[in-house]
Amino acid sequence: MNQLRRVAVVTGANRGLGFETARQMAQLGYRVLLTSRDGIKGKAAADKLQSEGLEVRCRPLEVTREESRKRLLDYVEHEYGRLDVLINNAGVLLDGQSDQPQKASFFDVDLEAVQQSMETNLYGPYRLVQLVVPLMRRNSYGRIVNLSSTLGQLSEMRGSFPAYRLSKTALNALTRIAAAELKGENILVNACSPGWVRTAMGGPSAPREPAEAVRGVTWLATLQDDGPSGGFFQDRMSIPW
Ligand SMILES: NC(=O)c1ccc[n+]([C@@H]2O[C@H](COP(=O)([O-])OP(=O)(O)OC[C@H]3O[C@@H](n4cnc5c(N)ncnc54)[C@H](OP(=O)(O)O)[C@@H]3O)[C@@H](O)[C@H]2O)c1
Repeated sequence: MNQLRRVAVVTGANRGLGFETARQMAQLGYRVLLTSRDGIKGKAAADKLQSEGLEVRCRPLEVTREESRKRLLDYVEHEYGRLDVLINNAGVLLDGQSDQPQKASFFDVDLEAVQQSMETNLYGPYRLVQLVVPLMRRNSYGRIVNLSSTLGQLSEMRGSFPAYRLSKTALNALTRIAAAELKGENILVNACSPGWVRTAMGGPSAPREPAEAVRGVTWLATLQDDGPSGGFFQDRMSIPW
């Protein structure tokens, strides 16, 4: 019976929204792989959730490194032989503090910050999607959620945070391209904005708590077979690209 329980991978889950996502997915009955680029922080996070009685295992994952991504997928294959859900949550905001847009001008931001943002927020998720889909196809089932942001919306595009904005706009495009190619396969791919949330990235002025924001993430991660794919959502509602 345990073999049949669904398996979910959450990236960047040692803290913030990823940690809360791992918790809520485990509460929903999923076997959760809480991944973290720092093994010690990952273990502490998994220990905390295990102490709450949740089935969570910790695995290392540096999303920008191919050998790390492949090692994770080998582990999933060997231990579970299946993967049902991928939540691409790990992300960086390298061009300033989220509550200080005036200090994150297009004209000041270093191109290195743009490149590094792309590595983490775009290429990492891109490769992970490529790697997990063959496993998902085996059971004709998959749910992929890409943590995006309203800062990536072209319809609302403004100045400031160029590195972050570009990476999230591209992640939104990735979502639509992958969803289009997976049409009819019951592997649903969606982008999710959590809103502005009190985490290390969101900062202390953010109005939302992680527990509230993550409900929209777990909803997309657990969609019924007739659910949407290739969409952009916040709090279960479709939002403009
Ligand atoms: N908070 C918000 O208001 C907000 C709004 C819109 C979208 N989002 C998105 O939601 C997601 C989670 O954000 P958050 O607020 O929880 O941020 P956070 O508190 O800063 O946490 C980010 C997580 O990503 C991990 N990470 C960063 N680079 C990584 C890499 N190369 N490989 C593996 N893990 C990496 C971090 O690991 P370390 O602990 O090792 O650094 C950490 O676990 C991000 O994609 C973010 O863009 C957040």
